[in-house]
Amino acid sequence: MQTWLVTGGAGFIGANFVLAARRAGLARIINLDLLTYAGHLENLAGLKTDRDHVFVQGDIGDEALVTKLLTEHVPDAVVNFAAESHVDRSILGPQAFIQTNIVGTHSLLTCAHKYWKGLDREAQQSFRFLHVSTDEVYGSLGPKDPAFSEDHQYQPNSPYAASKAAADHLVRAYHHTYGLPVLTTNCSNNYGPYQHPEKLIPLMIQNALRGKPLPVYGDGQQVRDWLYVEDHCTAIRTVLERGRPGETYNIGGNAEKANLEIVHTLCRLLDSHMPANAPHAKLIQHVADRPGHDRRYAINAAKIKRELGWQPASTFEQGIARTVQWYLDNDAWVQAVSNPEHQEWLRKNYQQSERNI
Ligand code: NAD
Ligand code: TYD
Repeated sequence: MQTWLVTGGAGFIGANFVLAARRAGLARIINLDLLTYAGHLENLAGLKTDRDHVFVQGDIGDEALVTKLLTEHVPDAVVNFAAESHVDRSILGPQAFIQTNIVGTHSLLTCAHKYWKGLDREAQQSFRFLHVSTDEVYGSLGPKDPAFSEDHQYQPNSPYAASKAAADHLVRAYHHTYGLPVLTTNCSNNYGPYQHPEKLIPLMIQNALRGKPLPVYGDGQQVRDWLYVEDHCTAIRTVLERGRPGETYNIGGNAEKANLEIVHTLCRLLDSHMPANAPHAKLIQHVADRPGHDRRYAINAAKIKRELGWQPASTFEQGIARTVQWYLDNDAWVQAVSNPEHQEWLRKNYQQSERNI
C-alpha cells in the first residue's frame, strides 16, 4: 500500500478526501493539519481506530516537522490541501493568506524537493507532489466568455486568489527548475458534507433552519460552477494516479448557477423537509456586496475528461439534495464547529454597518 502525506486533511475537502481514500484502502495517510478555525478533528471522527491514518497537528511552514514526517514515513506522494480558503476573510485580513498559501506552500515544496532528491531512481520517478488550487486564480468572466481552460491567463482579484496564484507559480517553478514531479489542479466551488458553516451553502442552510436572514451579497447574480465534493476527491485521485507531471488540470461540475438561484434551491428543499416554516425564501435579504466581487467563474473540464477519463458522477440536483440531508442529519457537527471564533466571524463579517444584519 502507498503512503501519502496529506496536508489540510482536517478541513472540508481534505477530510472528504482522507475519509474516502481510507474507506477504499487506497493508501496509508499521514495527515498534517494546523487545526486553524477551519480544521476540525470532528471531521475525522470516523478514523479514530484506523491505524493507517496518522494525524499530526502542525504547520506546512514548519520545515523541521515536515522533513521529519517525510524521513519517517517515506511517502509516495504529497497532496497539499492546506490553505486559508475564505475570500471574505482574505479581504478583512490578508496576512494569514500570504503566510500559509505562499510562504507555507514554498516551505512544503522545499522540503519535498530535498526529500525527493534523496530517493532512489525508481521512487523519484513515481513520486508526486499534487497541489490543490482554485479556478479563482483566473479572475472573473463576462456573461458570454468561454469557460476557463488551463491556458487561460492568471488574473487573480482577491487576496485569496492572488495568494493561490502565487503558490501555483511556485509549484510550476519547482517542476521547471528542479524537475520535481508536480501536478496542479484548479477546481471550481465545492459543496457537500463537512463544509465550514461560514461558506455560502452551509451558511444559508443554518440560517434558514434558525429563521435568520439569508444574506445575499449585492444582486446575487454572481455565477459559480458548483461541484459536489466527492467528485472533486475522485478527480484528485485520478490526477494523482495518471496525471502527467508538470501539467495542470481544471476540474468543474458543469453546473453554473447564480448565487440567488442556489439560495432559492436551498429554500425549496428546506420547504419540503419543513413545510411548517415555508416559504424559507421570505428570509432572503440583499446586503452590501463583497468588495471586488468576481462576477462569474466557469470551468472547461475537457482536458481531464479527454486525457484521464474523469467526469463528475453527481448532478447538481443530486449533490445539493444530499448536502441538505447531511446538514439536517448532522446538527451535532454543526454545533461543534460553531464555536466562539465562528460567532465572532459572523459578527465581524455581517454586522459591519453596511451589511447590517
Ligand atoms: P478549508 O478552509 O475548509 O480547510 C483548510 C484546512 O487547512 C484546515 O483544516 C486548516 O486547519 C488547514 N490549514 C490551514 N493553514 C494551515 C497550515 N499553515 N498548515 C497546515 N494546515 C493548515 O478549505 P477547503 O475548502 O477544504 O479547501 C482545501 C483546498 O482546496 C484549499 O487549498 C483551497 O484553496 C482549495 N479549493 C477549495 C475550493 C472550495 O470550494 N472550497 C475550491 C477549489 C479549491
Ligand atoms: P464562498 O462560499 O465564499 O465562495 P467564493 O467566494 O470563493 O466563490 O461564496 C460563494 C458565493 O456566494 C460568492 O459569490 C459570495 C456569495 N456569498 C453571499 O452572497 N453571501 C454570503 O453570506 C456568503 C458567505 C457568500
